[in-house]
Parts: sequence; structure tokens; C-alpha cells
Amino acid sequence: MSVGVIIPAAGRGKRMGTKVSKQFLPLGDKPVLIHTLMVFETHPEVDEIVVVAGAGEVSRVEEMVAQYGLEKISAVATGGQERQDSVRSGLEHLQTEWVLVHDAARPFVTHGHITELLKVVRLHGAAILAVPVKDTIKQVDPAGIVERTPDRQSLWAVQTPQAFRRSLLVQAHQRALEQGMTGTDDAMLVEELGIDVRVVMGDYQNIKLTTPEDLAIAEAIWKMRGTER
Ligand code: CTP
Ligand code: MG
Repeated sequence: MSVGVIIPAAGRGKRMGTKVSKQFLPLGDKPVLIHTLMVFETHPEVDEIVVVAGAGEVSRVEEMVAQYGLEKISAVATGGQERQDSVRSGLEHLQTEWVLVHDAARPFVTHGHITELLKVVRLHGAAILAVPVKDTIKQVDPAGIVERTPDRQSLWAVQTPQAFRRSLLVQAHQRALEQGMTGTDDAMLVEELGIDVRVVMGDYQNIKLTTPEDLAIAEAIWKMRGTER
């Protein structure tokens, strides 16, 4: 029943465009990465956490982990070129029955959603958090002309954590590597195996810090949560 978590934190944050990679930026009193790690560190069902850091940042992350007294971090792995490579690297350090993959740049995930996701993955083997899209989404061709408008009812914006039986995720990554396939999330690689992935309702506050305006939104969510405490 053991649960491991992989936190890919090896990205450069090109779309954010800050000198310091977004996962190391301060949010309130701590770096974003520490906020994210603390959610999992304090979740009673999480047994161990593997952080994946950029090649030159492993010791820096190890120091941060020590500084904040995080005790569930079992390894700081070295990341790769793409997020998928980083997750695969993290997977090599875990032997738990279940694995959650969660972006370092998503500090607002809650214990409640992690618990719910674990409940569903234990029943079905693959589960992800997602929210219904708010905007109408259009598929547009390279010339900038609308091709079609998918029915919004069936569109969900996918978040992390994404949870899997570890053996399934290992198999999915192995196959993707062999076939030279890149997925934008881990679920996509599992879907390629023909496995059903269950969607669990997330919440709109579980944002990924991606572009500069997300920093202001993150500060606002952080302040709002503070007054709720
Ligand atoms: N990530 C990673 N290794 C990579 C690329 C991304 O571990 N080679 C991590 C990021 O650190 C982040 C998460 O995957 O926590 C989600 O990726 P994304 O938001 O795309 O972050 P970046 O790749 O850093 O940003 P960008 O795509 O704008 O460069
Ligand atoms: Mg990226």
C-alpha cells in the first residue's frame, strides 16, 4: 500500500522568464518548491518523496531539503531535457506500490485532493486531477483559421498530481522511450497502453506557475489561504 511521490523540479521555466527558475522563487515566506514539498511531507499517506533537480542544482535542492527539515525526501535525482525524462529519472529511485507525479510549480494542491486521488487510484490503477475548462476551446490550424470547436462539456484541463500503480507507470515510460514518444503529461503515456485513466475533480486554485501573471495570482491565493487559516 506504500505511496511514493515524484516532484519534477528540473525545468528552466522559459515561459516564466525569470532569472531564478520559478520553482525557487519566493512565495510568501518560502520558495515555491518548499511549499509544494510540505504538502506531501505532511500528508499521512505519503511514505517517500523523490525530488528531481536540474543537473547543476542537486546539491542546492539537497541543502533546501535539509534547511526545512523535510524528512520524507528519500532521494534528489538528476533531471533530463524534457519533463518526461525527469519523471523517468525519478521513477528509478522509487519502489513503492503507488506513485504520484506532481509538478514542483504547483504549490496549492491540498491534502483533500491527494486523499481523493489515492482512493481512486487504488481502485482503478490510474487517476488524475482535472477541472472543467472555463473557456471555449477551439482547434486552430497553422494558418490561424478555426478548424473546429470541441464540445466544452467534454473538455477538462488536466492538473497534477497524477497517480498510478508504479508498475504501470514504469511500463508506460519504458514504452514511450522505446518508441521515441513524448507526452505532455504522464497520463498520456499510460493512455497509450490502452489503460483507462480516471478523472478526479480538482480545484481551480491548483494552478501551475507558468507565465508571469501566475505570480500575482499565486500571491493572491497565498494571501487568501492565510486569512482562512
Ligand atoms: N520539469 C522537469 N524537467 C524538465 C522540464 C520540466 O522536472 N526537463 C518540471 C518543472 O520544473 C515543473 C514541471 O516539470 O515543475 C512542469 O513543467 P513546466 O511548467 O513546463 O516547467 P518548465 O519546463 O520549467 O517551464 P517552461 O516549459 O516554461 O520552460
Ligand atoms: Mg516545460
